[in-house]
Amino acid sequence: MKKIVLFASGNGSNAENIMAYFDTSNAVSVVGVFSNNSEAKVIERAKKFKVSTFIFNKLALSDDTVLNQLKQLQPDLIVLAGFLLKFPMHIINEFPNKVINIHPALLPNYGGKGMYGMHIHNAVLENNEPETGITIHYVNEKYDEGKIIFQKSVSIIDCKSADEIAEKIHDLEFECFPKVIFDLLSE
Ligand code: GAR
Repeated sequence: MKKIVLFASGNGSNAENIMAYFDTSNAVSVVGVFSNNSEAKVIERAKKFKVSTFIFNKLALSDDTVLNQLKQLQPDLIVLAGFLLKFPMHIINEFPNKVINIHPALLPNYGGKGMYGMHIHNAVLENNEPETGITIHYVNEKYDEGKIIFQKSVSIIDCKSADEIAEKIHDLEFECFPKVIFDLLSE
């Protein structure tokens, strides 16, 4: 059984989609949901799937607290699904090529500090982009610059608001992210 740990900061609809996708799998198991926000909706979502949760603050992320927790779980993949803090290098170094992130745009466009969630979709709308998309990539020391694993675009010429763009992006994320995770774990 391959083990994954999810990191999420807020809503956690991607995290829930991944937990649902692997809920009955005998190849992949979600062994933990880690969040920096005790109020995050993702906590409730994890409880629904009986996945254990771990809440931490910035200090615990930068010292060895989160790292030690991860070492106990020994995940095959660490998946950032709407995780908004910078992921620390000392954890990446312990889990080389095992930390991935999903970004709701076609990197390298609309990436970097401050470019997350609705900020991205608002910028995409303002620039009248005919399409946007998703990027799944390895996490390195720079925001959104790790090696790209997967990208998929979607036309947004019919979208009149950033919310409509966000909905299209979520649909694309739900469709693709679990499959990409499964493929990576099957390599
Ligand atoms: C997702 O669209 C994800 O791609 C994005 O946050 C959203 C979280 O939604 N991540 C980033 O912007 C990271 N830079 P969710 O909590 O409902 O899964």
